[in-house]
Amino acid sequence: MNKNMSKTLEPCIWAIWTMLSVLIMMFAGCAHSTDSNGFTDIEVSVTPKSEDDITVDKSIYMDPARSTKERVDALMAQMTLEEKVAQMLQAEQNVSKGGASISDVTKYGIGSILNGGGSAPASGNTAKDWEKLVNAYKQAALDSRLGIPLLYGVDAVHGHNNVLDATVFPHNIGLGATQDTDLVTRIGQIVAQEVRATGINWTFAPTMGNPQNERWGRYYECFGENIDLVTKMSQAYIKGLQGVLGSDDYLSSLHVAATAKHYIGEGYTKDGINQGNVDMTSEEFYTLLEDNGVLEPYKKAVEAGVQAVMISYNSVDGLKCHENYQLITNILKNELGFKGIVISDFDGIDQVQGNTYKDKVVNCVNAGIDMCMEPFDWKKCMNAIIAGVNDKSISMDRINDAVERILTVKFEMGLFEEKIGGENECKLLDDFGSNEHREVARQAVCESLVLLKNDKYNNDMTVMEYLPECKKIMVTGSNADDIGNQCGGWTISWQGSSGDITTGTTILEGIEAAVGDDVTVKYNEDGIVEDGTQAVIVVAGEKPYAEGNGDRAETALRLGADDQTVLNNVYNSIDKLNKKIPVILILVSGRPLTIADYVGDCDAVIEAWLPGTEGEGVADVLFGDYDFTGTLPVTWPWYGQYIDEKFTDDSAVLFKPGTGLKKDGSSILKEGTQTIGDKPKEPEFELNADVIDIAASNYVLEAELYNDNSYEVSTGKSGDITYVSDWSTQWANTKWNVYIPKTGSYELQFLIASLNTTSDIKLYYQTPEIGNDDGNAIIKAVPIKKTENLDDYQIFSIKVDLTEGQYEFKFMATRGGKSIRLDKIRFILK
Ligand code: BGC
Repeated sequence: MNKNMSKTLEPCIWAIWTMLSVLIMMFAGCAHSTDSNGFTDIEVSVTPKSEDDITVDKSIYMDPARSTKERVDALMAQMTLEEKVAQMLQAEQNVSKGGASISDVTKYGIGSILNGGGSAPASGNTAKDWEKLVNAYKQAALDSRLGIPLLYGVDAVHGHNNVLDATVFPHNIGLGATQDTDLVTRIGQIVAQEVRATGINWTFAPTMGNPQNERWGRYYECFGENIDLVTKMSQAYIKGLQGVLGSDDYLSSLHVAATAKHYIGEGYTKDGINQGNVDMTSEEFYTLLEDNGVLEPYKKAVEAGVQAVMISYNSVDGLKCHENYQLITNILKNELGFKGIVISDFDGIDQVQGNTYKDKVVNCVNAGIDMCMEPFDWKKCMNAIIAGVNDKSISMDRINDAVERILTVKFEMGLFEEKIGGENECKLLDDFGSNEHREVARQAVCESLVLLKNDKYNNDMTVMEYLPECKKIMVTGSNADDIGNQCGGWTISWQGSSGDITTGTTILEGIEAAVGDDVTVKYNEDGIVEDGTQAVIVVAGEKPYAEGNGDRAETALRLGADDQTVLNNVYNSIDKLNKKIPVILILVSGRPLTIADYVGDCDAVIEAWLPGTEGEGVADVLFGDYDFTGTLPVTWPWYGQYIDEKFTDDSAVLFKPGTGLKKDGSSILKEGTQTIGDKPKEPEFELNADVIDIAASNYVLEAELYNDNSYEVSTGKSGDITYVSDWSTQWANTKWNVYIPKTGSYELQFLIASLNTTSDIKLYYQTPEIGNDDGNAIIKAVPIKKTENLDDYQIFSIKVDLTEGQYEFKFMATRGGKSIRLDKIRFILK
């Protein structure tokens, strides 16, 4: 699942390979390559001039006393076409996957390198490892013929989050709840400093979408659904990251270039599908941009001097933003006056129209993209742009405009004067993940908590007033004691993951540290409440995900089976004790979840979003003097099925935007005042005709079922679910649309016979709404052992948590499997 996985090739092997390819290119002159669509591209050999070919005159462009314009002009006058185009590339550092090596940077004069989500230096993931790697790349750029310094980019989206032991702040949705622009500026400054500590000078942040649909997997990366809020928070963030435009500090060595992303309309795609389509005519969309203010965050970001804008993967009326001239050149560059770098998103160029790769690149460059984030196809991209110039499908003016923008950013940032790994960097490295930085993150957690419900405990006090008086407290729930879960996606790895992934304090640890010595805090995984317990805190919610992997069906926007079991246990055991014990539900989630079945019974509900590494912030509010200040930056519907109605029908809304209570039960904002209405009935789930209701099939999927329903099996044998004689990373050509009527932990038993000893069967399952991209599916592997013959079925099982809803199940064998026979799959609810 890691888009940047794999290790670095030994540098010497790489060097030999590079030399060989240069030789081949020299002999071949012009080679032809055929792309995956079967179309042919001309491949241009790139042989940049060596220092001996042309004498470089550095007197003007290396002179800081000259104006940026003079310096850019003097430099561009000496650049070959190849050198100009190389500046327009951004490649990955992961060489083994096809990224650019350190020597490539020197050889071609590549403009920029990135570490994509989860891509870490091959040597390790400490700040020091990063600094070493980044500085080697930076030096390589200085060693190129013209010595143009490198822009090095990374997704520092809630801290320098790829790097071990960085300070990880709440994701943007939590910062939106704080409404505190000063705090967000301070966070931006700290993020910039931790990024700079590793030599990096550019972050792909902030995300400025205003999501309308909770089904979208990037909801939490945005500040909220309201444009004014997104505008002021992103402006404040950019000021923190870059420094204030016009001040001495602006783009200083304590700051980094920021990126306003993703331009534009990403929060409006149909059904909240990541990278999906905004189902509006262009005219309607422009009305949305101009009259409804969706362009406003970008206007203000440009005014704040943002250095880069990243184009969004989504399309509008079927046309991908990456190839939309009107949006990029007319509106962003001409109308808003953006003078910085327009960068494409990771492999985004691949998604546009075009018969060949070259056509796609030409489309995007002509639409106005200045730098191509083509992490592993950078060389192909370089060739495509050069071919485009040669056959006049890209004008030299367009190239010059792009390069001028890129160089201007580099000069304005002072990169030509920068001393690699200087004193500044050493000092910043000492402060990496420091207590001082963590204090700010902790403060952000305090301010981001939103108290949504706070019943009276008795006539004198509310539950939140009563809690600090309790002497015996039980804590439970899947997110109570898990740093990975509370950080969410984009933390250490691209998707994020559960567990002890980096340094920090869990919410449970924070609570334990905050209460007095005379208070017992008991953690109970199952949620069984013991006699004598005075309050129960359930910390439930989502598990980490990023981008399309977080897209959900509307019915799947609810607590997982584990948390539902815990909550049921809590209530059953309290019932048995027959005592009044208040239950406080804390949600750690990137978006509103359907909590209709629990909100009535919980005495207090707190949305904690994805707070990051500093979980003590939660206890600071629960047990300390700090009162709640956070308010809801979004509309919270009763059910996921009410996402569309939530903006038009009040009865569909559980909590309206602005909701946020204080400990005494009063509302923080006037507009936040409300009482929880009657719970509406959950809309019936409509089953399509081709969906197998697993309960009606006795919780077994077997051959007869797909025969009856004519599911396609290309290599089948009667009586089997599938029989494949030679699987090598192939789909089993069998898939089922299955409805799971009951949320729970299931054991999936596969009855398999195999003559293969090494291969795994992988089970992919996904909800229909999240599209058919296999990268978006949830994967579990079933290891298969050799059985004696193909009738000798054995049972192999895996455990999966399934939430009520519809799924598509399909299978793939990975490594060169042979003769695998799958008879049935049993779903056993645990
Ligand atoms: C994301 C961007 C990110 C880029 C680089 C893409 O998949 O959409 O937000 O900046 O990867 O990692």
